[in-house]
Amino acid sequence: MNSVTARAPSSTANLGPGFDVFGLALDAFYDEVQLTKQKHGISIITDDSIPVSPRKNTTGLVVEYMKKKFRIKSGVQIRIKKGVPAGFGMGSSAASAAATAVAFNKLFSLGLDGNTLVECAGVGELASAGSIHYDNVSASVLGGFIIVRTKPLDVIKILPPSDLRLVVAVPKITVPKKKTQVSRSVVPKHIPLSDSVVNLANASSIVAGFVRKDSELIGKSIQDVIIEPARAHLIPGFYQVKKNSLKAGALGVTISGAGPSVISFATKKSNLKKIADAMKKGFADKRIDSQIVICKPSNGAKTI
Ligand code: HSE
Repeated sequence: MNSVTARAPSSTANLGPGFDVFGLALDAFYDEVQLTKQKHGISIITDDSIPVSPRKNTTGLVVEYMKKKFRIKSGVQIRIKKGVPAGFGMGSSAASAAATAVAFNKLFSLGLDGNTLVECAGVGELASAGSIHYDNVSASVLGGFIIVRTKPLDVIKILPPSDLRLVVAVPKITVPKKKTQVSRSVVPKHIPLSDSVVNLANASSIVAGFVRKDSELIGKSIQDVIIEPARAHLIPGFYQVKKNSLKAGALGVTISGAGPSVISFATKKSNLKKIADAMKKGFADKRIDSQIVICKPSNGAKTI
């Protein structure tokens, strides 16, 4: 085998109270990465406006790391096709990293398990986020709902209920170059114990909702009194979008990952079009156009 292509889904991190712990793969957008053996070195080809220097590119970092870790002598050419919007809290770099790790595993017949693939893909997050978080990459690699334990890395996957639906609003605003660093810098270093109790209760209920396949319990537990209030000011119109969406029947609404996309949780029975229109109007009232996507949880990255 000389060449392998893998496709990996977008994802939403945190789901409100699960900061850096929860991830959910979404079928909203996909990235594709093709790896081809070449004589020497690592080279990157893409039509998208992303860095093509391997040390500055998510996929380049993953290939470099995996080559070293598994003592692979062959060079690798990387061809990237981005579908996940970069910098909007939809797990864009994680999707590229996940597709790369899965393609590399197949190309060199490594037979790696899920945790190892996640660990390798996590290295790619360094390129964009500046530090490694496994919430998006785990979801993108494995699919479904993910709980990430660190030290040591341990990723727990739960299959989402089949009637869970999400509505994502991606605002068309200019995001800072180092957006994730910026949005992490406003997160409080110390929090009142009472806030921690509220978030812990909601996070636990979200897990129970996934285990019981209860989308209503998941949706109504999407409540975060720590990170969301600290980041809301970075998203113009956030509270209006949230209010509109809840009024239109969403069960819960929060920031998708580090933002600025906003995500609403609903079920198959909800009026999803009404929620989508309400979210669009929330941003439009601030003169911000947005892309609205109605989506479902996705499977993980796979070779195609
Ligand atoms: N959990 C991360 C955050 C996701 O909210 O900052 C972005 O990498």
